[in-house]
Amino acid sequence: MGKLVDMLLAAFADEVLAWYQYYLSAYAVRGNVSVELEDVFRRIAEDELGDHAKKLADRLQDFDVDPPDFRDLWQLSRCRQTELPKDPHDVDGFLAASVKAERCALEHYREIFSYVFGKDPVTEEIIEDIIRDEAEHETTFRNLLSKAGLERV
Ligand SMILES: [Fe+2]
Ligand SMILES: [Fe+2]
Repeated sequence: MGKLVDMLLAAFADEVLAWYQYYLSAYAVRGNVSVELEDVFRRIAEDELGDHAKKLADRLQDFDVDPPDFRDLWQLSRCRQTELPKDPHDVDGFLAASVKAERCALEHYREIFSYVFGKDPVTEEIIEDIIRDEAEHETTFRNLLSKAGLERV
């Protein structure tokens, strides 16, 4: 169970940092379509914190484990926060960073899924739900990229 708890804590940290990345992106992005993008970033940020992080924290509680100390989140996280563009008008840059964050999350969740597959149906179901959402997030961000932006992911 120690290994599963460590994996869930890492995933929890990933979710909080992904939430913050999109929360920040919603404020930072400028220029064309930035108003529409703000909404997309806010909506997906809400999924990461309100849905995914919550599901993981609730599952950790089943093992009597509390959410980690705020100062430990960065160390615990596997994906951390993808680097954001320096230029606030670089819309594709924000989207490419988001696509990368989603791909990292997907890779991590697939590992957790194969670890629990066939032995922990409760966690398996939670991870399966989250994987479905992350795949959808990746598609949403990728579809917003310009043609040139597609080459950056
Ligand atoms: Fe997530
Ligand atoms: Fe996501």
